[in-house]
Amino acid sequence: MNKEELKKIKEKALEEHIPIIMDDTLEVIEKYLKDNKPKKMLEIGTAVGYSAICFTEFLSEEGIIDTIEREHARVIEAKENIKKAEVEGKINIYEGDAVEILPTLEGKYDAIFIDAAKGKYPFFLKEALRMLSDDGIIFADNILYKGYVLSDYNKHKQRTAVRNLREYIKETTEDERLDTKILEVGDGLAITKYAGNKI
Ligand SMILES: C[S@@+](CC[C@H](N)C(=O)[O-])C[C@H]1O[C@@H](n2cnc3c(N)ncnc32)[C@H](O)[C@@H]1O
Repeated sequence: MNKEELKKIKEKALEEHIPIIMDDTLEVIEKYLKDNKPKKMLEIGTAVGYSAICFTEFLSEEGIIDTIEREHARVIEAKENIKKAEVEGKINIYEGDAVEILPTLEGKYDAIFIDAAKGKYPFFLKEALRMLSDDGIIFADNILYKGYVLSDYNKHKQRTAVRNLREYIKETTEDERLDTKILEVGDGLAITKYAGNKI
């Protein structure tokens, strides 16, 4: 991993207002990855590859990240960034809408990071649970969405996103098979495992 290049990738993304993972959220996920060294990771929402590049450092030696992005220009930039950061071979980008791509994926993932369209979180959850390994973990970023999700926010703008994020929280906290914690880092991070596996 070329850390100098990673720093530049982050600075450029911030300058261009590309919504990359926040430092405190990244810290939580990286700590988990460091302790658990997953082999296969799935990311929904690549943007320019920043978070995926960061995660590669903490996977097991042959570890791989599959990541999905629907904006062509971002896929191109992510591929360039992966080269610059010298982590080719560790990240596999699927270009297209995750709603269409997820059902075509098979196999199990040890860690799944949901970081794309908020209105689709319940669907992403369903697909993530289908592919989660027994001792795997799901991280869902932006789950508190500027505080709207746990408040009585009900304005028309963003209403669908807020409703779907609330549904994600309800499903992951009320399902007895699951154990979920919501952390107030970044824009809110939901962490879900199968019950019995300590978070
Ligand atoms: C918050 S950004 C991802 C940031 C990235 N994970 C990081 O921290 O560096 C969300 C990305 O998801 C993409 N996206 C949103 N909805 C999507 C969908 N349904 N399928 C694929 N990509 C999607 C957007 O184009 C955007 O680039």
